Amino acid sequence: MENLTIIQHALIQRNLTLLRDRRTPHGEFRRLLHQTASLLAYEVLRDLPVRAVEIETPLEPTVGYVLDTEVVVVPILRAGLGMVDGFVQYLPEARIGHLGIYRDEATHRPVDYYAKLPPGLERAWVIVIDPMLATGGSADDALSSLKARGARQLRFVCLVAAPEGVRRLADRHPDVRLYAAALDRELNRHAFILPGLGDAGDRVFGT
Ligand code: PRP
Repeated sequence: MENLTIIQHALIQRNLTLLRDRRTPHGEFRRLLHQTASLLAYEVLRDLPVRAVEIETPLEPTVGYVLDTEVVVVPILRAGLGMVDGFVQYLPEARIGHLGIYRDEATHRPVDYYAKLPPGLERAWVIVIDPMLATGGSADDALSSLKARGARQLRFVCLVAAPEGVRRLADRHPDVRLYAAALDRELNRHAFILPGLGDAGDRVFGT
């Protein structure tokens, strides 16, 4: 699991517990997902490249820093939408791409149904977000289509990851760093993450 960074933070652990709890209603789930994505973003964006610039404070000249890369945030629909604001609140200039992928209930294989991506993928930091990494099929599919469109510098961020999905991405995309709030135990025979948090898309949108 060398490709995976688990982000340790007391507030993330507390929020994830509430997100896992079946009693948490959808409005609260949505709020907690947004807040947790914000905490994850703070860590994932820690090493964004910066460039020194000269500025003047009210008292004297000094050296400051500006971000030295473009950032593209790509939620995997639907559930990834619930994490977008947590990232772009720090990056008002970021572009947002959308990839619509759902998992076929019988085969568990990803099905693409939508793609709208901004220009400049080849020179941007591209951050793919989705609360769940289960079999890894959806993430694998998303990362492959972003690479086919020129993306070079990719990260994948989720809340809960299953070992099966982490292994799949290590095998298929060894260049992509993964971030999660937790590494869960396993998948059940329906390819749901255990203990997991249920169907994130249904819980965030109340469907
Ligand atoms: C869920 C989840 C991921 C995917 C993970 O989406 O949000 O996108 O499944 O599973 P995988 O790693 O095995 O591919 P779902 O298919 O339920 O679509 P939805 O977000 O539209 O509900």
